[in-house]
Amino acid sequence: MSPASTVLITGCSSGFGLETARFFLDKGWRVVAAMRTPREDVLPPSERLRVLPLDVTDIASIRRCVDAAGPIDALVNNAGVGMAGPLEAIDLNHARTVYETNTLGTIAMTQAVLPQFRQRRAGVVVNVTSTVTLAPLPLLSVYTGSKAAVNAFTESLALELAPFDVRVRLVLPGRSPSTSFGNNARRLMSEDVPEAYAEFTQGVFAAIRDTSTPVTYAEDVAEAVWQAVTDPAAPMRIPAGADAVAAATAAR
Ligand SMILES: NC(=O)c1ccc[n+]([C@@H]2O[C@H](COP(=O)([O-])OP(=O)(O)OC[C@H]3O[C@@H](n4cnc5c(N)ncnc54)[C@H](OP(=O)(O)O)[C@@H]3O)[C@@H](O)[C@H]2O)c1
Repeated sequence: MSPASTVLITGCSSGFGLETARFFLDKGWRVVAAMRTPREDVLPPSERLRVLPLDVTDIASIRRCVDAAGPIDALVNNAGVGMAGPLEAIDLNHARTVYETNTLGTIAMTQAVLPQFRQRRAGVVVNVTSTVTLAPLPLLSVYTGSKAAVNAFTESLALELAPFDVRVRLVLPGRSPSTSFGNNARRLMSEDVPEAYAEFTQGVFAAIRDTSTPVTYAEDVAEAVWQAVTDPAAPMRIPAGADAVAAATAAR
């Protein structure tokens, strides 16, 4: 791939997606930064940058975005939402939103770009999941399921697309309290936790927010995505962040 290559990244309004868009711009790539609510001002001005609207749960929005983007060399499925809490307290409609976004959103975006990759016999899809799929934590059952499904989807698809020279990879970030992830997740969480879980829930949430142990930074994710896109020898699963590398090593 040359510096004139184009990457389409989903979920660029904040966090990992925003940093990854910056990273690829710095490397001289053309970047299509997709956002639910497009905002040019969050990224440095560049003639190589295009900001396009995209809701990954809306197939018409996906088609418009992929058509407007034109030929791309890499797709980064980064858009995602979190959800935490005891399963008993989870609203099934909120669980649907998590799967619609994290799992089906990734599948639908991948479907939309595959014809061009297959025809050109080139292209990379990078799916951002999570190390909670390697080292499960309590209270994240719905979120973990939505991301573990993407791991399995990606590993099967990689075999299907290898004959067409299309690469598919996973980036697994660790815990990153500095993105908007926690606040966005809280919108989908119930205030109404059964008393039996209250103390346990408080303890787990405090551990999730703790920054005294190693965490993942947005730059770690940008670098891992860069490796996944540009290095054909990159492994299928790339942990991003010090805690993620430790979790992946322990899981092995
Ligand atoms: N932070 C962590 O601890 C952590 C750890 C492991 C993995 N991850 C994964 O890393 C990815 C990025 O998360 P982050 O930490 O950077 O969180 P973030 O700051 O909340 O960013 C998530 C992005 O996804 C977008 N998004 C959500 N729903 C969407 C939809 N239906 N269509 C299009 N875009 C949508 C958000 O857009 P809006 O601004 O419009 O909501 C936002 O741009 C996610 O897939 C997440 O699951 C995060």
